Amino acid sequence: MTHPADLTRRTLLVAGGAGTALALAACAPGGDGASTGAGTDQGTATPTEVAVLSDVPVGGAIAVMFDGAQIIVSQPTAGEVVAFSAICTHQGCIVVPEKKGLNCPCHQSLFDTATGAVLQGPATDPLPEVTVTLDGDKVLAG
Ligand code: FES
Repeated sequence: MTHPADLTRRTLLVAGGAGTALALAACAPGGDGASTGAGTDQGTATPTEVAVLSDVPVGGAIAVMFDGAQIIVSQPTAGEVVAFSAICTHQGCIVVPEKKGLNCPCHQSLFDTATGAVLQGPATDPLPEVTVTLDGDKVLAG
């Protein structure tokens, strides 16, 4: 029993959410240099827990959110963790962890789960690495 006005409001809220995400992305660090605390945030950011290592399959990967964007957290060997941007270097679609690697659904580029290297084009550049560390079973990014 959804009233048509409710549907319209929901649609607008969803659209507004996407717009907000784009606006936030546009304000990402390194943008316009309008920061008032020149240099004060360099190296002082607190790492953020993005995953629990036991949720990441050995030899596989999971997709998680970090700093408003999707990243891939991978465990190449037991106890070793690496992470990459999930944004395909071809045209910016989001890659998906699969058995054969990190697959881009847009044009089927394939990236190595352990290194982010291109296994199959059309992408030619590897996925950018995201710095992650382990604190016990917690995977920290940033
Ligand atoms: S955007 Fe990923 S292969 Fe084209």
